[in-house]
Amino acid sequence: MKTHPDMTRRELLAMGAGLALAAVAPALHAQATSPVLTRPIPRSGERLPVVGLGTAIVFDIADDTAKRGERTKVIQTLLAGGGRLIDTAPSYGTAEAVVGDLVAGLKARDNVFFATKVRARSNDALVPQMKTSQQRLHSEKIDLMQMHNVGFQERAQFTSQLAILREWKQQGAFRYIGVTHSQDQPRANERLIEMLHGEKLDFIQVNYSMAERSVEDKLLAVAKDTGTAVLCNLPYGRGALFRAVKGKPVPDWAKAEFDAQSWGQFFLKYLLANDAINAVLPGTDKVEYMIDNLGAARTRLPNAAQRKRMLALMASV
Ligand SMILES: NC(=O)c1ccc[n+]([C@@H]2O[C@H](COP(=O)([O-])OP(=O)(O)OC[C@H]3O[C@@H](n4cnc5c(N)ncnc54)[C@H](OP(=O)(O)O)[C@@H]3O)[C@@H](O)[C@H]2O)c1
Repeated sequence: MKTHPDMTRRELLAMGAGLALAAVAPALHAQATSPVLTRPIPRSGERLPVVGLGTAIVFDIADDTAKRGERTKVIQTLLAGGGRLIDTAPSYGTAEAVVGDLVAGLKARDNVFFATKVRARSNDALVPQMKTSQQRLHSEKIDLMQMHNVGFQERAQFTSQLAILREWKQQGAFRYIGVTHSQDQPRANERLIEMLHGEKLDFIQVNYSMAERSVEDKLLAVAKDTGTAVLCNLPYGRGALFRAVKGKPVPDWAKAEFDAQSWGQFFLKYLLANDAINAVLPGTDKVEYMIDNLGAARTRLPNAAQRKRMLALMASV
């Protein structure tokens, strides 16, 4: 294969993934001419594609060979389609180990931005858990380590555990650190706002979808002001948004005005139109959904008036 002398290792790997994509998802290979939108991580300027992959439940498949084959195709589709971010956690059963094995099997580690999490009752339990994550992800260096569901963690414990994450980051084990929440909004939002004012975090990961918009009240603005990147978990409200519109067509105006070709794209485009958002993390085990999700970031996003119309529509279903 002839390559340009200035091509980076990442570009070469992406090219390899692109060839793999032609085999697993010809439709995407044909369509992926327009690039997926990327946004800079405020602390570093590194650009991250705005659509990632969530692995809770769907990647908890242990040693099932057939399912591992299917999930491998989903990861290939993410990477070849221009994505990089995979979010997992030790508490997702076998998912973290499965993702680590599949990425290692694809020899695609350099193309992936791994986000995982840690949640421990004591500082003594924190360190072994993070070491296990390094082993499971086959990665001495993890891109993003997040303290998992910190909304209700006792303050002194939070501060001392965050200090350990900072130390690991300084020693090169993590590139970025952050915190996540997904439950009991808006109380958890208030706690994160307090953290953002008191601590320098690289990322927060929040529960944000058209079904749960409380982060819009204040948290997203604080994240932007403090230079903190934002990831959205549960962007489809665990699938509730699809159930709400079941049997209804995507409105023509959404297709014509901002290229929402599916309900998935409609829901993700609403989130991505907010420039405080760095990436969304829809969970899926299906190649066709991965293609659809990436497609949300290849075309136009709605403006403020169009977002209002989207909300009005969802309020009516
Ligand atoms: N506190 C935390 O840190 C926290 C908490 C919760 C979640 N998370 C993260 O957020 C991720 C996403 O959460 P989630 O997977 O539970 O919920 P979700 O992304 O809101 O919804 C997933 C559902 O949407 C469906 N789906 C995905 N793409 C679709 C498409 N294009 N068209 C139609 N249906 C589509 C999936 O179907 P299939 O299953 O059939 O593919 C699944 O039923 C998790 O995997 C995890 O990484 C983090």
